[in-house]
Amino acid sequence: MCGIVGFVGQREAAPILLDGLSRLEYRGYDSAGVAVVSPQKGIDVRKAKGRLQVLSDMLHGGADMQGRIGIGHTRWATHGAPNDVNSHPHLSEGGKFAVIHNGIIENYVEIKEFLINQGVHFRSETDTEVVAQLLEFYYNECHDFFDAVGRVLRRIEGAYALGMLCADCPDRIIAARKDAPLLIGYGEGENFIASDVTALLPYTREVTYMEDGEVAVLTTDGVAVYDALQQRIAKERCHIDWEVSSAEKGGYPHFMLKEIFEQPEALRRAISPRLKGGKVVFEDMKLTAEQIRAFSRVYIVACGSSYHVGMLGKYTLEHLTRRSVEVCLASEFRYSDPIVDDHTLVIVISQSGETLDTMAALREAKARGAYILSIVNVVGSSIARESDDVLYTWAGPEIAVATTKAYSTQLAVLDMIGLAFGEALGTVDGAEYAQVVSELEKLPEKMETVLAHHEDIQKFASEHFNHNSIFFIGRNLDYALGLEGSLKLKEISYIHSEAYASGELKHGTISLIEEGTLVVALGTYDKLFDKAMSNVVEVKARGADVLALTTESHRAEMEKTVSNVLTVPDTAAMLLPSLGVVPLQLFAYYVALQRGCDIDKPRNLAKSVTVE
Ligand code: G6P
Repeated sequence: MCGIVGFVGQREAAPILLDGLSRLEYRGYDSAGVAVVSPQKGIDVRKAKGRLQVLSDMLHGGADMQGRIGIGHTRWATHGAPNDVNSHPHLSEGGKFAVIHNGIIENYVEIKEFLINQGVHFRSETDTEVVAQLLEFYYNECHDFFDAVGRVLRRIEGAYALGMLCADCPDRIIAARKDAPLLIGYGEGENFIASDVTALLPYTREVTYMEDGEVAVLTTDGVAVYDALQQRIAKERCHIDWEVSSAEKGGYPHFMLKEIFEQPEALRRAISPRLKGGKVVFEDMKLTAEQIRAFSRVYIVACGSSYHVGMLGKYTLEHLTRRSVEVCLASEFRYSDPIVDDHTLVIVISQSGETLDTMAALREAKARGAYILSIVNVVGSSIARESDDVLYTWAGPEIAVATTKAYSTQLAVLDMIGLAFGEALGTVDGAEYAQVVSELEKLPEKMETVLAHHEDIQKFASEHFNHNSIFFIGRNLDYALGLEGSLKLKEISYIHSEAYASGELKHGTISLIEEGTLVVALGTYDKLFDKAMSNVVEVKARGADVLALTTESHRAEMEKTVSNVLTVPDTAAMLLPSLGVVPLQLFAYYVALQRGCDIDKPRNLAKSVTVE
């Protein structure tokens, strides 16, 4: 949520900042801005409402700005409407400081009042401007950039990743972090800050993740990092092995479509190294069988699509481990006085590893003694670092706001956790274990066959993109799958959509079904196929237009009642949602395409949600 980038080196900063921002735009796209500083001209700030392209065109790709040190920002508005004035970077009144910020300064009203009483004039409605103004206020007292930053950080409350420039010190950027992601990139004679490593891939793979309370001073020659007590500290560097091409569209019209098609490969990376001799082997997990047996309570905590993975995980984990599993929305968990102690396992799921609600829930659980096992895509992210154990999904960078390949790999990892736990507890049936492992091996290939039929889904979407409202119905695993299908559709096509447990329809929702209502009926789960059919018949009797999703083996039966039938290959029951989600992702994609929506950057959304 909000992307920030900073550069100091021997090259012109503005084109590099704009390029970096273009890789961070998925974090927010209400407005964008850059600031550069030069000894001759001081700080030059340019910003524009709307997409980054507006700013880039205005600056002729950055050619209009001169300076070899600068900061840039792409905004997801929290305080103040998305307009030019509220865009970052924010300048202090005297023009000495420019600031970019991701997060929320919670006590900004009080600081603003204080500064106004001191005669400071504010321009914007944002919380961020107080940082720029306060910097100048303290600097006027101490005349030292670093010292002024320290004073500001002691005064502000809330979450922040900050990049700061000072006109009097045109050789350095100072960066600070608390509860919002920020990393440092090390180049040859140049250094960077960024919210996310994707911004830096063309420039460097050597990075350090900043921790809460740390402050960094970046110059051309090097980077000095200080802890909250302003003591200089040594930081470990990580090498990122993502390819630049993996963060580019590679011939696809949208990142989302590319990422849908990347799923078989992503699944191979998530699954293959963890299957050995017919067994699930997590070499990357510290938990022992003895610890697994000692847990008396298990929670799965996540947001958005990651939460939907958790919903599916509840069914499979309970089935395989015969232990009750509670799935909680992270934003609810932290305030629900959860029953957590040192015999509790909390499985945290997050693609970005930076979602603030999920992070807060993790900390709440940890403080109460829980063991945290996280499933994360971004290596070295905050959630990964603060967990007791982390299993990476190895999906590669996901750029489209609507998640696809991260969802699929999270699900595969959670399925494997179910098998491993079931084995440790002695609760999983041997034949089922063997079947699921063998089907996991075939999953990427089976997913390729589903993708091969994308044109059928495109055709259906082209005939049904004009509905005002679409319902997804299913039971058990198919219900949890429907939740994700429905979320995908509403996120990117803006069609109102709901997912219901089919059995619940008759308790109210069926009143919404009328002539021509589109119902996506999910009937992949063999055990409940007959029940699913009954619900299809019920909605058809009330005039619904039905798109059914089932398995190859049930196609003929489904076609007796429904004319639009999509199928997935048969596989182990618990793996069916992994295949079933693909047609739903494609359906959402093609519907949004027909409706002319901005698929990779849907309105009001951001990929990494670092505010509450
Ligand atoms: C945002 C994204 C969703 C994602 C959710 C949780 O809302 O748009 O696609 O599922 O955040 O994100 P996480 O990174 O924690 O999985």
